[in-house]
Amino acid sequence: MSTSDRPARRPLFLVLEGIDGSGKTTQQQLLADWLRDQGESVTCCRDPGDTPLGQQLREILLHSAGDLHPMSEALLFLAARAELIRQVIRPARERGDWVVCDRFLLSTVVYQGHAAAERIDPNWLWSVGREAAFGLMPDLILLLDLPLEVAIQRSRRQDRFEARGREFQERVRRGFLIEADRQPERIRIVDAEGGPDEVQRRIRDEVERVLERHPRA
Ligand code: TYD
Repeated sequence: MSTSDRPARRPLFLVLEGIDGSGKTTQQQLLADWLRDQGESVTCCRDPGDTPLGQQLREILLHSAGDLHPMSEALLFLAARAELIRQVIRPARERGDWVVCDRFLLSTVVYQGHAAAERIDPNWLWSVGREAAFGLMPDLILLLDLPLEVAIQRSRRQDRFEARGREFQERVRRGFLIEADRQPERIRIVDAEGGPDEVQRRIRDEVERVLERHPRA
């Protein structure tokens, strides 16, 4: 079917989430390619990042900060996200672009909520995080899930969070699964084991599923 035969589709705001080494970056690229091949305009972004403040906070949070309380981390992630929305995501949505974002609020809920040693209440993080995101929530969150061993083998670098060790990463994985269980429609668990194309097919199935339910702009 050519692009012009296809019914107009509502551009979605999609987020990829998962433990470090789950393959988000590769999958983001493949997903954007697939959408662009169908004639859609796509904006890819990553959280934190893609704005001057976001880049600086990313550097501080991932590489240079010493010991930070999860509350400080959460508030910095929220600030980076507010600018990402204001400067990148909202303008993209207004242009009619699809948005494919590498991480979003769910990461704060999981890393600073479920997984942190002095954990912040996940419900509080949802509520403040939503306010700090100007109420903008993704249409679909694709949670790339896989066993820790596989993720560790895939992952090449270490940042502050990745250096926190196995137990922390296990709590991250569990936190993601708990949240997916609480919001089964919005957060879809995608089996991230297997080759990139295989995982991408599962992601596309989930996107198609949402489009079938809300096909029109
Ligand atoms: P990630 O986005 O996976 O970047 P890279 O691809 O460069 O590894 O890493 C960001 C790290 O920040 C990751 O370990 C999760 C953490 N993080 C939080 O703790 N809270 C948040 O709100 C976000 C967005 C990320």
